[in-house]
Amino acid sequence: MRDFTYYTPTEVVFGRSAEDHVAELVKKYGGHRVLIHYGGGSVVRSGLLDKVCRQLEEAGVAFIKFGGVVPNPRLDLVREGIELCRKERIDMVLAVGGGSAMDSAKAIAYGVRYDGDVWDFFAGKAKATQALPVGVVVTNPATGSEMSDSCVITNEQEKDKRGYSSPFGRCRFAVSNPERTFTLPPYQTSAGIADIMMHTMERYFSNDMDMALTEHLAEALLRTLKENAYRVLADPADYVARAQVMWGGSLAHNGLTECGMERDWACHKMEHELSGMFDVTHGAGLTALWPTWARYVYKTNVERFVRFAVNVMGLPNNPEDPEGTALKGIEAMEQFYRDIRMPVTTTELLGRELTDTEIEELARRCSHDGAITVGKLRVLGREDMKAVYKLSR
Ligand code: NZQ
Ligand code: ZN
Repeated sequence: MRDFTYYTPTEVVFGRSAEDHVAELVKKYGGHRVLIHYGGGSVVRSGLLDKVCRQLEEAGVAFIKFGGVVPNPRLDLVREGIELCRKERIDMVLAVGGGSAMDSAKAIAYGVRYDGDVWDFFAGKAKATQALPVGVVVTNPATGSEMSDSCVITNEQEKDKRGYSSPFGRCRFAVSNPERTFTLPPYQTSAGIADIMMHTMERYFSNDMDMALTEHLAEALLRTLKENAYRVLADPADYVARAQVMWGGSLAHNGLTECGMERDWACHKMEHELSGMFDVTHGAGLTALWPTWARYVYKTNVERFVRFAVNVMGLPNNPEDPEGTALKGIEAMEQFYRDIRMPVTTTELLGRELTDTEIEELARRCSHDGAITVGKLRVLGREDMKAVYKLSR
């Protein structure tokens, strides 16, 4: 079993009344002049933004509203936000929205406390030593950014999407009211669930086989998300089901389901190239790759895929035919993705086949010109990446 550090400093306030605590949390974590950062308008239409602003006004906290974050959040807006924060002497960034607003807020928070260009962190040229405090009001359970140490930004000029993780990327607080997720369109709901499950699957598909507690927590999380996916799609206002998804989203990516195990992350790395190049929804990019990835790597650790088939997908174990059981588990997951209307090939994702030239380029970027590999369960080099992208068509 591997040694590990479990660090989850985020205060999570969860439930129907969670939003009533925003001003109190802002003050508790030192916000006096706050940048409220949000997306393309869903929080305006829902009245959530107004509610947050009213609370801050009543509490005597100064704030500026700064919207316009798009899915796969852009570096240009981050740079604009950094300038604004400096000019207005902002001391906290409060994201109201989904993973894109949260990540954009985190990047702004890094940039304000750094003399160079914020992209340095994402390009691997600098390490953060500080950041402004960040709080979030979550509207899309998907990325787990509210509790994760990660932040993913797209450099639109280069069509380059890169993540940066550090302890300074952890939010001080997260406010999660499942009712706010009732308005999510079915596609975003499904993509979010796929992303949540994948955050735990990237950790579960490990060659470390002796950390039973982490493994069982991961299996429970995956089964719960799968069951509740059907419920929220049948009834978007099912509070209890939405709550399972929302809390699952936070736990799937806060480190709990990796303690003592090695993480894989191959699908995420390969997907980030897809959403960087084609601006597709991250969760849908993941489901378009996973079945191909799984069939490409399962022979490296058949037992791990058997456990997935039996303990997550609920299939009978056939000790005579472990490979058959493993493959049935992959098939069952693929069927689940179809059930929730997610693509299971890149052709379904893009509406056309990836060209050979695009595959070369995706693998070139993902492997940093052949300099790095991805994945741990099975290490994938540039040629493997090309093979997976090709087979995913
Ligand atoms: O922009 P608005 O108008 O708010 O609309 C959003 C957006 O169009 C809408 N939406 C959000 N909450 C809603 C809602 N619509 C109705 N009702 C609500 N309650 O949904 C659309 C998608 O929102 P977005 O924030 O882009 O989605 P998501 O939360 O999936 O975030 C995706 C981004 O996070 C990154 C992804 O790569 C992608 O860039 N990730 C971040 C991670 C992290 N920081 O730890 C980990 C992930 O693996 C992921 O890479
Ligand atoms: Zn993800």
